[in-house]
Amino acid sequence: MSEHLSSAEIRNRFLAHFEGRGHTVVPSASLLLDDPNLLFVNAGMVPFKPYFLGQETPPFKRATSVQKCVRTLDIEEVGKTTRHGTFFQMNGNFSFGDYFKEGAIQYAWELVTGDQASGGLGFDPDRIWVTVLPGDDEARHFWKSVAGLPDERIQPRGLKDNYWNMGVPGPGGPCSEIYVDRGPEFGPDGGPDADEDRFLEIWNLVFMQEELSAVRAKDDFDIAGPLPSKNIDTGMGLERVAYLLQGKQNMYEIDTVFPVIERAMELSGKKYGAAGGDGHVDDVRFRVVADHVRSSLMLIGDGVTPGNEGRGYVLRRLLRRAVRNMRLLGYQDPALPELLPVSRDKMGESYPELVSGWDRIAQVAYAEEEAFRKTLQAGTQIFDLAAGDVKTSGATTIPGDKAFALHDTYGFPIDLTLEMAAEAGLSVDEPGFRQLMAEQRERAKADARAKKGQHADTGVYRGILDANGPTEWLAYETLETESRPLALLREGAAVRTLATGDVGEVVLDRTPFYAESGGQVADAGVIEFEGGKLEVLDVQRPVRGLVVHQVRVVDGELPADARLLHAKVDPEWRTGARQAHSGTHIVHAALREVLGPTALQSGSFNRPGYLRLDFGWLNALTPEQVHEIEQVSNNALRADLPVGWQYMTLGEAKDWGAIALFGETYDDRSVRVVEIGGPWSRELCG
Ligand code: SER
Repeated sequence: MSEHLSSAEIRNRFLAHFEGRGHTVVPSASLLLDDPNLLFVNAGMVPFKPYFLGQETPPFKRATSVQKCVRTLDIEEVGKTTRHGTFFQMNGNFSFGDYFKEGAIQYAWELVTGDQASGGLGFDPDRIWVTVLPGDDEARHFWKSVAGLPDERIQPRGLKDNYWNMGVPGPGGPCSEIYVDRGPEFGPDGGPDADEDRFLEIWNLVFMQEELSAVRAKDDFDIAGPLPSKNIDTGMGLERVAYLLQGKQNMYEIDTVFPVIERAMELSGKKYGAAGGDGHVDDVRFRVVADHVRSSLMLIGDGVTPGNEGRGYVLRRLLRRAVRNMRLLGYQDPALPELLPVSRDKMGESYPELVSGWDRIAQVAYAEEEAFRKTLQAGTQIFDLAAGDVKTSGATTIPGDKAFALHDTYGFPIDLTLEMAAEAGLSVDEPGFRQLMAEQRERAKADARAKKGQHADTGVYRGILDANGPTEWLAYETLETESRPLALLREGAAVRTLATGDVGEVVLDRTPFYAESGGQVADAGVIEFEGGKLEVLDVQRPVRGLVVHQVRVVDGELPADARLLHAKVDPEWRTGARQAHSGTHIVHAALREVLGPTALQSGSFNRPGYLRLDFGWLNALTPEQVHEIEQVSNNALRADLPVGWQYMTLGEAKDWGAIALFGETYDDRSVRVVEIGGPWSRELCG
């Protein structure tokens, strides 16, 4: 291997390699892509899922990206192994019904073993091993014919390793993994099947060809049928490749992560790697700090704020673990103001939004550290009381429920309780504590299951979409159309008629009804047919492209094969909803004018006569601020500022200064920008 390649260089080489082979370079999506099954984007393919499933037509046949990913299932493993990171980047190339196994293998081989001087990564071909699904003779064949690999370095491994799925229903397929042999000093011979530390997986090529209807485990799932086309989804771990190409022992020592460890060394006065061996407890702490600081930076960058559930809780945990580990390293002062900027300087090169959004990011992170410091203080008092009680009663063990209360109510981590107990000459009933934790986890899981159930099975809607194509959606053009029903549903199943009094769903070939989105309530109105009338109760898009009306039959009986319907939006309702929605844009602009650009809307709801705008702010607003925001808003109304909209690319919209809200996904070909009073208020608004 020749030169050391920086992470940015590896990233650029990857994208250039595939761009030179006809792939469109697609920017990383936000970590918060809207998928009810995923807390965070955890693989490069997630933004492309609708293309694989055939729900949407891809605008390109080939794409390549470097996608930000977060996986926190293994948070306890961070720092203890060479390769567990909560944030990582996945380099990927994707084919949507274009090239398949042979192309994927050839492109990967060229990049992995290509000469560094001519843009490749320069791995020694003799150190490459691959795995294939037993029976996948095609993949084996191409590894031999294209790459010239000998049979003994093509290992068959079962479904667990060589069939990839999302862990939830979705696309999947056999895969083939590429490993680099780091050498005998790292473990026994025998290929990836024998040792995955010595043989490090760097790239997974997935031959995406099936749709899974249920996934119980990696190797236990139901295949619903073939995907509309055969696709390629690959994922190369950027951090893993970086540590190999930078001659490091693990992902925490690479160029984009290690500087945080260096700063932590300066602050704590302790030395990373001092004990020589791997896994020294301080080394693990340094790595946890570096990993968590970077992940927190990326999550806040994409709009997550600390909270007590879901994404916010993950962020809170990461931030607090980072702070806590700095304390364990002996550093007591606020640590994030020292560490976060180091991470920003390294990651900002590839993610400029970290630089432009820095003020907001820093504010969120530092406030959380402050809050945690207060928690520690309060928790310490509670701990002292508990310890005092135990001692007075002549016992030596802090009961499990006390440790649990400290954790649950005061956010006091158990390792802190253990440590302080030891200092006080006491022990802790750890099994009791763990039992209570397990019970709490069970409750949380049951809760999550219940929440997921709300996303009813979308299969039936997908079937309607597949059979008929997308709804012709005329909400922006007209308030009335003549339409034909494509399907009638009751309780999620197709029916032949809807009779007086029934509540059901109607899918039309075309509709003027606005479906709830962007915080604006669905249109109200009626659908008339010969001999009867439906009242529209709600309008939703359960799958992209398909508009579904929830209706109540006011009178008559609607047959599924009715010829002609009149869909009529209530014009007053629509006007009211639009006014409320414009009002939200105005209040948002006023907020930003008064509070500055870190004030960002996080949610909204608009219906006639009512608007609500949510935004996160660290302190309550002062009466003066509220008054000023009201004045700015009212002035905008009095001035009767002109409202207009136009379509442009996401890049153009950003250049134009339009605000894009975090967590929303936009179709890059064409976003809708609404402006009020010219540049005063410009927002992406679908
Ligand atoms: N989706 C596959 C993975 O996550 C390849 O990108 O490993």
